[in-house]
Amino acid sequence: MDGLDTLRGRYLGAIADAADEAALEAVRLAALGKKGEVSLKMRELGRMSPEERQSAGPALNALKDEIASAISAAKAGLQDAALAERLRAEWLDVTLPPRPAQTGTIHPISQVTEEVAAIFGDLGFGVAEGPQIETDWYNFDALNIRPEHPARTEMDTFYMHRAEGDNRPPHVLRTHTSPVQIRAMQAQGAPIRVIAPGRVYRSDFDQTHTPMFNQVEGLAIDRDISMANLKWVLEEFFAAFFEVDGVETRFRASHFPFTEPSAEVDIRCSWAGGQLRVGEGDDWLEVLGSGMVHPHVLRSGGIDPEQWQGFAFGMGIDRIAMLKYGIPDLRAFFDSDLRWLRHYGFSALQTPTLYAGLGA
Ligand code: PHE
Repeated sequence: MDGLDTLRGRYLGAIADAADEAALEAVRLAALGKKGEVSLKMRELGRMSPEERQSAGPALNALKDEIASAISAAKAGLQDAALAERLRAEWLDVTLPPRPAQTGTIHPISQVTEEVAAIFGDLGFGVAEGPQIETDWYNFDALNIRPEHPARTEMDTFYMHRAEGDNRPPHVLRTHTSPVQIRAMQAQGAPIRVIAPGRVYRSDFDQTHTPMFNQVEGLAIDRDISMANLKWVLEEFFAAFFEVDGVETRFRASHFPFTEPSAEVDIRCSWAGGQLRVGEGDDWLEVLGSGMVHPHVLRSGGIDPEQWQGFAFGMGIDRIAMLKYGIPDLRAFFDSDLRWLRHYGFSALQTPTLYAGLGA
């Protein structure tokens, strides 16, 4: 029959050219599908004379088989090629050395900050933040620190430079985390329970003082909060932080403009054998300043002191990190000495939690 050779050449060519299985399927439909060219020719057989049919029938059937088997051969070839490509791309040399050991560590200050947040989080305290460059209103006035107070003198406070004629309010590097008390009160109102860890700055430098160091502020305000609540919270905190059964605190009367009454807090410890042990012994170690929030301070934060009262404290994070992890010199924290960081740093995978252990 005429044209079969042309059909054959065209379809076998298309099969050879098909780049993927979808292209092959398109060829199959064009030739052998219900309305495919070969299928239509098969239908014409019915209208032929028996003699014609006798020669055309087998020829058409042979063509149909040839195309079908060429398609399935091409399909198998494409699948083999895809598998070979996958095997090549996903090849893995199991004789390669493993990845180098992880070398970076978490700085002890970051680790201790996480520990502190985990413990106070468990006690119901959220975490608040404030800027390290503060207006002198937040850093001083709002906290009832008057202009003539010695803490304001250039001796301790870093003032931001102001060009002549610049009349914006003076800015300082915050000298403590206490301004975050005001910001948190303004943002959240009462009742409130927050801690505020962060960097603070004072012009001071020796073995126990660096011009930048870290504090954590605590603030709890409600209708009937008292110093007794403060003492309980702190003792819970120290027992969890130092991972001992209990830590006794000693409150010494003190003075801060933003608290009334005010107390400095010591914790019981022992230096027996030159080693510090928290929670036992006959020595006392000063760890923080605290008190009941002054009514002026509540008012600066937009809270009515007739309705609300609460405690605040400020603790040195570097200090308690040194105590917990036996770090003798504060300045080492900020030297960026890689050997020191490798020795005192923490694994990035060791996230402090109360149930899995806080540190060490
Ligand atoms: N801000 C005080 C300091 O830096 C600590 C403190 C905070 C005291 C809160 C009382 C209440 O020394």
